[in-house]
Amino acid sequence: MLDRPSVTAPSLDVAEPRRGPAKPKLLTVADAKAMDVGTMADLFKDHINPGQFHFMKLLGFHKVKVERAEGMYYIDQNGRKILDFFGGFGSLAFGHNHPRILAARQNFQDEKRHEIAIAFLSQYAAALAKNIAAISPGDLDMVFLGSSGSEAMEAAIKVAERASGRKNCKIVHAENSFHGKTKGVLSITDSALYQGEFKLVENRYKVPFGDLEALTRCVESDPDIGVVVLETVQGGGGIIEASTEYWQGVRALCDRHKVMWVADEVQCGYGRTGRFYAFEHHGVVPDVTALAKSFGGGKAAMAAMIARREVYMKAYGTPKTAMIHAAATFGGIGEGCVTAIEALNTLYDEDLIGNAEEVGAYLIKRLDEIRARYPSLIKDVRGRGLMVGLEFHDFSRTLPLALRPVVAILDDKLKGSLSGFIGALLLKDYDTLVAFTEYNRNVIRLEPPLVCTMDNVDQFCDALDDLLGRGIVSIVKDFIKTQMG
Ligand SMILES: Cc1ncc(COP(=O)(O)O)c(C=O)c1O
Repeated sequence: MLDRPSVTAPSLDVAEPRRGPAKPKLLTVADAKAMDVGTMADLFKDHINPGQFHFMKLLGFHKVKVERAEGMYYIDQNGRKILDFFGGFGSLAFGHNHPRILAARQNFQDEKRHEIAIAFLSQYAAALAKNIAAISPGDLDMVFLGSSGSEAMEAAIKVAERASGRKNCKIVHAENSFHGKTKGVLSITDSALYQGEFKLVENRYKVPFGDLEALTRCVESDPDIGVVVLETVQGGGGIIEASTEYWQGVRALCDRHKVMWVADEVQCGYGRTGRFYAFEHHGVVPDVTALAKSFGGGKAAMAAMIARREVYMKAYGTPKTAMIHAAATFGGIGEGCVTAIEALNTLYDEDLIGNAEEVGAYLIKRLDEIRARYPSLIKDVRGRGLMVGLEFHDFSRTLPLALRPVVAILDDKLKGSLSGFIGALLLKDYDTLVAFTEYNRNVIRLEPPLVCTMDNVDQFCDALDDLLGRGIVSIVKDFIKTQMG
């Protein structure tokens, strides 16, 4: 450091010479909060993702500026309350800004607790890991903390590969799988669009989901196969389940061939299906699993890979191997862990898993009734708890002839699919938000917060019923009007 002459009183009119670069023109937090919807759109297009803006505009989502969010609702710039049946693809088990989770975070900040958990042991990471081990069945006891589902799934396939003992380990995954977009898990995410022309990991096989014979043939065809990775309920595939017989067969097959079974519970886990883990419906325990989304209580980016102790010890159990996949910079970050601890306690104190099962069954019952009224529009209602898929018939062939030329000029994504029209009109006319599905454009995904009530279900179902009651011609025409205004 340079010696400076000592100054007795600071001079008010002579500015200190700057030592670093001049401050660029930066927006402040207040600027961000006060931003109008047009500026938000311009900045999103200029700096984030212009192509994605195209889809938001198509659905009318670009007109909403969320000012607040509480419980089951977003509140927009006009004070409109938007019912959230999208739930951030399962990230909002507690709804928006659950008061207990906010208070835990506020206390943590007020007490000036520490965040980074690398140099010293962290009491918060230790408590969170202990809680996960207490919740998880069998000896799923070892926990790696990260900050996204992709990161947790990367950790899952790495621990499984090492524990499999195969030198040239190969991985089996399912058709229509979604495990994330980072490069390792992208290789086992079955999407031509996402995989594009990236150079992927080559040691993998793909099998149909839910088909035990196909999986058995595959595993028995190559002794280098050391890992089988499956979502317990496929989310991006359109809420697809497999039978208990299948899961018990997967467990037995993997045991027989000393293959590691990795259950991706990033979307279907955390109580969503009426059990903490969806695999608990089938009386089986995988070797490795992963959680994310609601694990951060809807306030923090938190994820976990959980491995059976024996599996973990085989992979990283000695001082020599311990650092091969130890936590990244933000793994086990203080406030994130405290948020996740409070969230897990709240999940059980408020019996939200029981609520998911009960309210989910009511949602499916009401949707089945609506389906019975509109059999030419709704093809299927499926799911468990508050992880529900609503599949519409593909109308590319059934649409009245007069409307076909109009629909033909619409975006490719919308052709043949009612989901986009329904989603856009639910938001515009009924203040209700739903989610679309990566690989099946005819499926609307309903993953509302686990705090969802029967009244919320009625509000949603009444809206859907009313919209479908307009009939297909009016629905298409009403949607087309939104594109003109
Ligand atoms: C089943 C599943 N696995 C992994 C991921 C990746 O999670 P993230 O987006 O947090 O990286 C997702 C995200 O939707 C998912 O649904």
